[in-house]
Amino acid sequence: MTAKGFFISFEGGEGAGKTTQIKRLKDWLESSGHAVILTREPGGTPEAEKIRDLLVKRDGGNWDGLTELLLFFAARRHHVETLIKPAMAEGKVVICDRFADSTEAYQCFGHGVSTDIYAQIKTIVLGDFAPNLTFLLDVPVNIGLKRSKRVNDSTTVLSDAEVEDRFERLDVSFHEKLRQGFLTIAARETNRFKVIDALQSLDEITTCIENAVNDRLQDNV
Ligand SMILES: Nc1ncnc2c1ncn2[C@@H]1O[C@H](COP(=O)(O)OP(=O)(O)OP(=O)(O)O)[C@@H](O)[C@H]1O
Ligand SMILES: [Mg+2]
Repeated sequence: MTAKGFFISFEGGEGAGKTTQIKRLKDWLESSGHAVILTREPGGTPEAEKIRDLLVKRDGGNWDGLTELLLFFAARRHHVETLIKPAMAEGKVVICDRFADSTEAYQCFGHGVSTDIYAQIKTIVLGDFAPNLTFLLDVPVNIGLKRSKRVNDSTTVLSDAEVEDRFERLDVSFHEKLRQGFLTIAARETNRFKVIDALQSLDEITTCIENAVNDRLQDNV
């Protein structure tokens, strides 16, 4: 019998709480006996992390929206083929900090690349591969940006070139488009998505996530 893995992605704007909740989910799944791989996009493999640098670092380059989208999907193909699918084939739970929905939200809803082009390239690169479950942590833009700023302020001092802030420096109206984009995408695929009000406390959100994962993992046999 082939082991059946499970793929969970976390989406949402900056400071929504993705990374915080992902760590909690990993610990909880491991404590109940699951093998878990935690990964992120863009990146996740050494090769894809090189593409990440081109996309997120301040001196990474001035890409237009479509070029960005192609770079994201180039990195994603490597990540999916060499890390995510093999881990799933071993029966592992893969948790990814952002996945393809972020590309649609940022490059299409944010930067105006057509959703038709996104859909075509997604089909070429991923076929019908998609997360089994996607959490959208939804938070008002001003709150998310405040939370995100707190994290950046507390990190060790990095050189300008090292700072991963190309997207964080975009203005508030951009982040609003992003938020609405994520909600639109989630409304289109209600089976895959679980939208969570990320104004709730950390513990309330964690409980919500654990319940949803529990339900879906039981179905995944
Ligand atoms: N529900 C919450 N209530 C209050 N603070 C929160 C909540 N969730 C996260 N935070 C805090 O907000 C900050 C940002 O959280 P986190 O880094 O997990 O967000 P993120 O979605 O991963 O952001 P980014 O997209 O920038 O990586 C952290 O300081 C975290 O402790
Ligand atoms: Mg994060």
